[in-house]
Amino acid sequence: MKTLIVYDSVYGNTEKIAKAIGDAITDEVKVLRASEVNSSEFKTVDLLIVGSPTHGGKPTRAIQDLLNKVHVSDFKGANMTAFDTRFSMKLVGIFGYAAEKIAGSLKRNGWTIVVSPEGFFVKGKKGPLEKGELERAAAWAKEIVEREK
Ligand SMILES: Cc1cc2nc3c(=O)[nH]c(=O)nc-3n(C[C@H](O)[C@H](O)[C@H](O)COP(=O)(O)O)c2cc1C
Repeated sequence: MKTLIVYDSVYGNTEKIAKAIGDAITDEVKVLRASEVNSSEFKTVDLLIVGSPTHGGKPTRAIQDLLNKVHVSDFKGANMTAFDTRFSMKLVGIFGYAAEKIAGSLKRNGWTIVVSPEGFFVKGKKGPLEKGELERAAAWAKEIVEREK
């Protein structure tokens, strides 16, 4: 199984989660920033995982641009899931979060969501990640791999 993890990150927290997910996937995996992805990368991939910081309840502009570019027909598998980083405060939750928006957008375009989108918590705008989040990201990655078998 070939997995492509595409992420955006302003302060580095989403990047850390993306790399922890990548490290936990033992099959072939590539971890790339959205601005570095070439559309040819998509052709041979079985599973796409997209990650973004939550900005105003949504993914970043770079991730939104990517979502407009990826078409189901570009992919072998068209299987995907998404993650984000976010505040844990309940009040901010009224706007929703990036991961659900990413998954919703791709689902409307015919993608199959293999595992529910997940959010990982930061303590402040610049981070750091809350304790245990890198381990939780690795466990989430294992769940995805199991589901894909
Ligand atoms: C402009 C801006 C808007 C944000 N809006 C939200 C939000 O709506 N909900 C939320 O939970 N966090 C929000 N945050 C906090 C981000 O989730 C946090 O900066 C991010 O997880 C850090 O990830 P990064 O280090 O990969 O950039 C916002 C941060 C910025 C800079």
